[in-house]
Amino acid sequence: MTTASKSIGVFISEEKIQARVSELAAQINRDYENQEIILVCVLNGSFIFCADLIRQIKVPVQIETVSLSSYEGTESTGQVSFRLDVKQSLVGKNVILVEDIVDTGLTISFLLKHMKLKNVASLKLCSLLLKRARLKVEVPVDYLGFDIEDKFVIGYGLDFDGRYRELPYIGVYGE
Ligand code: IMP
Repeated sequence: MTTASKSIGVFISEEKIQARVSELAAQINRDYENQEIILVCVLNGSFIFCADLIRQIKVPVQIETVSLSSYEGTESTGQVSFRLDVKQSLVGKNVILVEDIVDTGLTISFLLKHMKLKNVASLKLCSLLLKRARLKVEVPVDYLGFDIEDKFVIGYGLDFDGRYRELPYIGVYGE
């Protein structure tokens, strides 16, 4: 792998990602027919996933963003904290958290607990990726893109120390 030429092997192709995003959006459109939803984009990793997903949502939809911190390099610190919370009241709203990847599950369970305190009408989780073998806590993923093995992945919004988010596919860091 050379960072200059970005010759990083394809783990999940752009075509596969786009096809799965369409399926997830179709599922959300069916589940929330005649209802309004708020997608909560978990920054920074899910900004591309969220942008692709929202453009295929047919029910009335709004977007909010949150930012949390827990990662340094390729290892979770396990200490989750808020950098940025949503700007509007979520009381009585149908909320879907949109996450790039659930690894240990510590980040998203922290966020799910926090969101439940906001008296939402419903709360669901949509994650593009899940590393099931790495879970340290149980996480209910209502809409899942891909269940992947324990590899550190980059691209399609996912980074390694801030790099590689722009790749249109998902690759494995170091392979
Ligand atoms: P968790 O708290 O261990 O579930 O970590 C979740 C967060 O860690 C994700 O939102 C990502 O930002 C980051 N993360 C976990 N695994 C990876 C990976 O393989 N590549 C890039 N980021 C990752």
